[in-house]
Amino acid sequence: MSFNIAIAGKGGVGKTSLTGMLIEYLVEQGLGPILAVDADANANLNEVLGEEVDLSIGEIKEEINKAEVAGVPLPIGVTKADFMQLRLNQAVAESNGYDLLVMGRGQGAGCYCYVNGLLKTQLDVLAKNYQYLIVDNEAGMEHLSRGTLGKIDLLILVSDCSRRGIQAVGRIRDLVAELKLKVPTIKLIVNRAPDGVLNAGTSEEIEKEGLDLIGVVPMDQNVFEFDSYGKPLVDLPADSPAKAALRAIVDKLEIIKNKK
Ligand SMILES: Nc1ncnc2c1ncn2[C@@H]1O[C@H](COP(=O)(O)OP(=O)(O)O)[C@@H](O)[C@H]1O
Ligand SMILES: [Mg+2]
Repeated sequence: MSFNIAIAGKGGVGKTSLTGMLIEYLVEQGLGPILAVDADANANLNEVLGEEVDLSIGEIKEEINKAEVAGVPLPIGVTKADFMQLRLNQAVAESNGYDLLVMGRGQGAGCYCYVNGLLKTQLDVLAKNYQYLIVDNEAGMEHLSRGTLGKIDLLILVSDCSRRGIQAVGRIRDLVAELKLKVPTIKLIVNRAPDGVLNAGTSEEIEKEGLDLIGVVPMDQNVFEFDSYGKPLVDLPADSPAKAALRAIVDKLEIIKNKK
């Protein structure tokens, strides 16, 4: 069974950047196969990874929803479940050492409950082909709360140094508890810390929220530079401060040892 990692936190704190670096590191360690899932409606993990994506789950849901609601037929003899499976396989973009699936968002009105159910079933089947499922979530946690992504073995909460960021991940941790999702490990990474150091205010808030801090990633000028020129972060040198810090954290998380 795959080891499923979800990354969550407020918008703009660096979830996608860190997710991209995590995927790159695991691939480099020869671990895989990995299925990377971009579960943010405003998908951009592919940019961090330097990938093109043609088809999203949202578009597939839209196709099925149209067939359902507006009476646009699917090809003759094809059930919705078959169609979902076929298109889902087409939506998995294959890359070097990992595959990428983009959730996106359906545009139309109407109810997606039925399609979401199908999606959940198909994702379960798909996930069996992978050692790791790594999910970059949106701030809203829609896919987590719907349970679309199935079990989570490790939840990585990401925050910046702000109290609001820490409080936001505290709420996500609470949501996980309210939904009675069984997540055995929940860890916090604080990203974009000036000089890689937390000040007393941030530390205090982390303590107040009762969050388990696994590490701090520094503010890294290179990340900023790469991003502003649209260069994939996977091309950042491994000794760039943010990348080096993230790698040390992954080593501490023992994700890799767990698999061996
Ligand atoms: N450690 C870092 N140092 C400097 N800039 C960073 C760092 N991590 C992320 N960023 C920048 O912060 C912005 C938001 O990052 P992103 O990964 O898209 O956040 P999220 O996915 O949480 O919305 C991007 O412009 C990114 O380049
Ligand atoms: Mg993001």
